[in-house]
Amino acid sequence: MPTVSVLSDEKENQEFEIRLEEVIFDALDNQGTKLPHGCLAGSCGSCKIEVLEGAEHLKSASLIEQNTIDTISESLAEERGSEFLKGKTIRLSCRARLISEGNLTIKPI
Ligand code: FES
Repeated sequence: MPTVSVLSDEKENQEFEIRLEEVIFDALDNQGTKLPHGCLAGSCGSCKIEVLEGAEHLKSASLIEQNTIDTISESLAEERGSEFLKGKTIRLSCRARLISEGNLTIKPI
């Protein structure tokens, strides 16, 4: 079964199983871990993550997810400088769904 590795600056890295068609947030929640979140509907951006590996195994962002990513990317660029986003894949853990077999490595932002 594919896995999601969660990297953290504060805690030890953790690994969770994820099934095909499962949303990242739900996969971890079902195993007792809640990632940072707010609305769980793709609009607040509180659940933003960087996908370090395996982004190609995720379904493409929906319009609502992409709009939220665009908005939070602007904020992140203002807060941390435009270089911060260079080469990074930002997704929302409450929306990003696994659609092909493959492992993911993510880091909450
Ligand atoms: S929790 Fe609000 S966008 Fe994911």
